[in-house]
Amino acid sequence: MLLSNLMKALTVALLLVGTFNSLPLIGQSILLQNMPARRVLSLNGSWNYIIDPYENGFYDYRREAFDQSKSGKGGYYDNAKPSSTQEEELIEYDFDKSQAMQIPGDWNSQDPKLLYYEGTIWYKKSFNLQPKAGKRYFLYFGAINYESHIYLNGKKLGMHKGGFTPIQYDITDRLSTTGDNFVVVKADNTRRPEEVPTINTDWWNYGGITRDVFIAETPQTYITDYKVQLAKNDPNTLAGYVQLSGEGRANQSVTLSIGEANISQKLKTDTEGRATFSVPARKLTRWSPQNPKLYAVTLRSGTDEVKDRIGFRSIETRGQDILLNGKSVFLRGISMHDENPLIPGRARGEGDLRMLLTWAKELGCNYVRLAHYPHNETMLKLVDEMGLLVWAEVPVYWTIAWENQATYQNAEQQLSDLISMGKNRASVVVWSVGNETPLGEPRLKFMSSLAKKARALDDTRLISAALELHRTPDNVMHVDDPLGEFLDLTSINEYAGWYWGGKPSEITKYTFDIKYNKPVMISEFGGDALAGYHGDANTRWSEEYQEALYQNQLKMLSTIKGLRGMTPWILADFRATRRQHPVYQNGFNRKGLISSTGTKKKAFYVLQDYYRQMAQQYDGK
Ligand code: GCU
Repeated sequence: MLLSNLMKALTVALLLVGTFNSLPLIGQSILLQNMPARRVLSLNGSWNYIIDPYENGFYDYRREAFDQSKSGKGGYYDNAKPSSTQEEELIEYDFDKSQAMQIPGDWNSQDPKLLYYEGTIWYKKSFNLQPKAGKRYFLYFGAINYESHIYLNGKKLGMHKGGFTPIQYDITDRLSTTGDNFVVVKADNTRRPEEVPTINTDWWNYGGITRDVFIAETPQTYITDYKVQLAKNDPNTLAGYVQLSGEGRANQSVTLSIGEANISQKLKTDTEGRATFSVPARKLTRWSPQNPKLYAVTLRSGTDEVKDRIGFRSIETRGQDILLNGKSVFLRGISMHDENPLIPGRARGEGDLRMLLTWAKELGCNYVRLAHYPHNETMLKLVDEMGLLVWAEVPVYWTIAWENQATYQNAEQQLSDLISMGKNRASVVVWSVGNETPLGEPRLKFMSSLAKKARALDDTRLISAALELHRTPDNVMHVDDPLGEFLDLTSINEYAGWYWGGKPSEITKYTFDIKYNKPVMISEFGGDALAGYHGDANTRWSEEYQEALYQNQLKMLSTIKGLRGMTPWILADFRATRRQHPVYQNGFNRKGLISSTGTKKKAFYVLQDYYRQMAQQYDGK
């Protein structure tokens, strides 16, 4: 732990010194809770952009970073214009005369020459904001894939790594007094072995500013963070904390109000601006997929007020049972990428997400696996509203650089940011620390440390990871991954009938040998089908093959005593660079139950029927 703290301090110090220019680097503020509730100016819309594969806008011809030079100038982030009196001034870029693209939106799907592009693209957006006295302003990006350097009015705010978690900077002291400002972003989606995710994944490497951008406003002393959930092991108590920042944070009165439940709790912050609380919650209606009850919660301090809509439920395991609000539940799930197959690229906004979740509800789901990375903050509010339980995940995927300390710090930061963003969302019941990571000591140390970190950050939810199994010639699937000791669920991906195990009709020969007495979750199974391609149950790539695979998978899996849920792979076909068969794939992974044109394949109805039976068995409806 000491080493990781030292590394963190060193990283911050390097960040402060390394990219220091004329003003002290602000660095990344902690992720303020529920920033969309404080939005005062959206920066969504048209941003000019410059494609820069040689990073010409960041380094001089001797590969020295402009923003580390004494002047700090020379990069594209200056947004320089020739002054009228000095025509000889050489400037070899001009954002305002460059092309524009729509933000939020990955670059791959907005310009045909960028479909496969991996490298740097610069963005520029001008905006007018008249700052009010006594207010603070924060610049918020929902996500930028993968590494971003962000500048305001030519001055560096900071550098961020991680393509799926929010980025925020306190820009109060950086706004121009005239009200005219410009923000410049250097986004680089280059894949690298030591990053998270690493160089190989099975999804499209969509680059750029893929989620909302806006400016949020708070008072000088403001509510930075809060958690309002049922206490662990005491479902009749509401517990949590409120954290203030700013000069007036200490000994400040704060009120927690939930009018509909007649709760109005007066709190006082300590010298660090933090107030904890524990309030009787007997009267609160429990949130569940059948009744996704959300309460209007208001947090008010002497100078600030934040409103949220929060659901209250308990989740725990008991032996091989999962208990939601004390009642045994079967998680009827489906896996999803952050991608609407009907539009190119990353899902853009609430409409895309609502459509995907409506498909999941139509399938009969009460649960979704938001694979393999943190999804949109909007998504987490939608699942709260629509009544779906959630498995949320960080992209510690496949062959990560397990022995690289900076890689671990990066993974842990992404996990902390995910938990910070989702901790008030009743729908989120599982934090997953990774997917299909190969066995080995360094990997076990890395992943078990992440699992401990997740539990330390939030002990009110279940910790898991998608593990792999191994097969023996006697057709037994063994699940004994040592990482399982550190997890609350035994979750496994298995592809009998597609990647191994013979034809669909042959896979029921398998039995399971599972080491842990914990609830069993099948986090993935499935097979590809090209919608509209028909054959018999043994014709690979046909809808009938996928249908037979689902029928036999469900038969095989129902022999598992502790089976308590599944999230078959996957709701809809999705773009994947690795999937290049010219007839059946064309750059799409075809394991969707719904095609890339929105048609339901035959297997959709097999799973829908099975979930109807499970709902009857568990929910009696
Ligand atoms: C893996 C992996 C997925 C991938 C899927 C497949 O289990 O977790 O990300 O898309 O299998 O091979 O289609």
